[in-house]
Amino acid sequence: MKSVAPATLGSRAFYKYMTAAVAPRPIALASTVDKYGRVNLSPFSFFNYVGIDPPIIVFSPGRRGRDNSYKDTALNLTEVPEVVVNMVTFDMVQQMSLSSAEYERGVNEFEKVGFTMLPAEQVKPPRVAESPAQFECKVLETKEIGTMVLVIAEVVLAHFAESILDENGQIDQTRTDWVARMGGDWYARASGDAIFEVPRPQHGIGVDALPESVRHSKLLTGNDLGMLGGLTEFPAREEIRAFGATVAMLNLREEARLGCQYLPDVLHAHAKKLLKQGETATALLTLLLPEPFSDE
Ligand SMILES: Cc1cc2nc3c(=O)[nH]c(=O)nc-3n(C[C@H](O)[C@H](O)[C@H](O)COP(=O)(O)O)c2cc1C
Repeated sequence: MKSVAPATLGSRAFYKYMTAAVAPRPIALASTVDKYGRVNLSPFSFFNYVGIDPPIIVFSPGRRGRDNSYKDTALNLTEVPEVVVNMVTFDMVQQMSLSSAEYERGVNEFEKVGFTMLPAEQVKPPRVAESPAQFECKVLETKEIGTMVLVIAEVVLAHFAESILDENGQIDQTRTDWVARMGGDWYARASGDAIFEVPRPQHGIGVDALPESVRHSKLLTGNDLGMLGGLTEFPAREEIRAFGATVAMLNLREEARLGCQYLPDVLHAHAKKLLKQGETATALLTLLLPEPFSDE
């Protein structure tokens, strides 16, 4: 592996690695106002939702590399410590990107990029009407570390478009189309085949509970082992025996014999298919069939 230390590489070069590796990052399209009420809109991907009670978001407008000056967002927050964070969808990506261009302080990027201002209810900065998730926030604290201005803010009101909600009023992740920032000019789109579910394991038996032949299988991947280790019970000996006597398993054995194939390989390939279909418990039974019992 290549090892790099920020102290020797320099912070700018290190940043290139970090933004490409800590990716994809969600994007806060942050709307703020200055003391005269002039509106500003800028995207920030040093951003996340980090606390539940109270609901806290953080984001970080760093100082400009060119002259170490504060960005308009950071300046506005010292005058009016309120922000609306708007989430970004694929349909908004080009206008969001344009809003990151360095317009003079006081220039309203909503107008520059063609987004629609929607009044907020509890804070002064406007919401982005095109965004399906908008968070009205009050800034609790800003903390400067080096060139970073970390903004810690509490969400006081959130708005969600009907288009992303299911019949129970919850966000349906298959109806969202969020976009996230990666390294350089790369972005990620979180929809279609790019999103998937992983059922939360209760208290899995663990990969270490699997026999060595399974843990070191040529065919099984780390994801396969993770699924098997997430099963809550190791099958009893009788269950494994009974499973081995099913027609399907007897047929598999026969196929291996006729094709002169090594039985464990056939069973592992079959288990892999079962894992793909989500039949994890049956996959484990299949993998345990060649295992000799200790009293045999
Ligand atoms: C997707 C995206 C994410 C960005 N994330 C950040 C960030 O986290 N911190 C930052 O300082 N600048 C970030 N930038 C650059 C700022 O948006 C840019 O400097 C902008 O001009 C700041 O605007 P302001 O001076 O009006 O606040 C990002 C740009 C893009 C396109």
